[in-house]
Amino acid sequence: PLTLEDGRYVMDFDDLTAKISRNTKMLLLCNPHNPVGRVWKRHELEQLGRICVANDILLIADEIHDDIIYSGHHHYPIANLGEELANNTITLSSPGKTFNLQGMQMGYAIIPEPSIKKVFSDQLARNWVHLYNPLTIEATRAAYQEGEEWLNDLLAYLEQNRDHLVDYIHKNIPGIDVIVPDGTYICWLDCRALSLSQVELRDLMTNKAKVGLNDGMSFGTGGEGFQRLNFACPGSTLEEGLQRISDAVKGLSQQK
Ligand SMILES: Cc1ncc(COP(=O)(O)O)c(C=O)c1O
Repeated sequence: PLTLEDGRYVMDFDDLTAKISRNTKMLLLCNPHNPVGRVWKRHELEQLGRICVANDILLIADEIHDDIIYSGHHHYPIANLGEELANNTITLSSPGKTFNLQGMQMGYAIIPEPSIKKVFSDQLARNWVHLYNPLTIEATRAAYQEGEEWLNDLLAYLEQNRDHLVDYIHKNIPGIDVIVPDGTYICWLDCRALSLSQVELRDLMTNKAKVGLNDGMSFGTGGEGFQRLNFACPGSTLEEGLQRISDAVKGLSQQK
């Protein structure tokens, strides 16, 4: 459960604690968070970790965006914040986002606690998803061992795109606000001030602006009035998309 406070999402620990029951077995943490772009601070993760350990809740940490972190932010893998947390966490990641290798269909889990690892591995084997082809393994090795320079260039490019996107929207698109992402290459757009229904908002983006955003509702409760924009694209494509959104929003006021 997240709440939006002064333009940033925070974890609502009171709400979380209230929702825990005897049947609560697992908590799924997304860090960096998709879609709201938060890179959780150390003290937030420690508080979350304490709640999980105290209530015997296994942490599943989806850290797939862990390398896409912008200036001024630091990603802490939650399993690194102490032995107790390490032994209570399954960390999931992949080179897919960082190195654009989704086509390799590669993911991995880091599970320090042997008994959890055994249950996990047995289940993978039962579902026949534990086998990788050699090309995938070599691509992953090459990415992690030889991809640093490429990644540094990518991060500089993405940060420039992010800053431009935020600046453009603030200056040119009244009615849409940006939740500035600390990491990830996605941006959560707050379109609630446009006062459109979700169907009208989707129509505005898809049919009027002709841009392919993800509808906020596809991320569940709290997504009403929001859209998700992926800015991992050439700056010129981003510019055109923003211009089209701006024109479509201007068109709304002309209709009124
Ligand atoms: C937070 C998060 N986890 C996992 C995935 C799955 O990635 P893939 O299926 O490409 O490995 C995604 C993809 O969008 C994601 O954003």
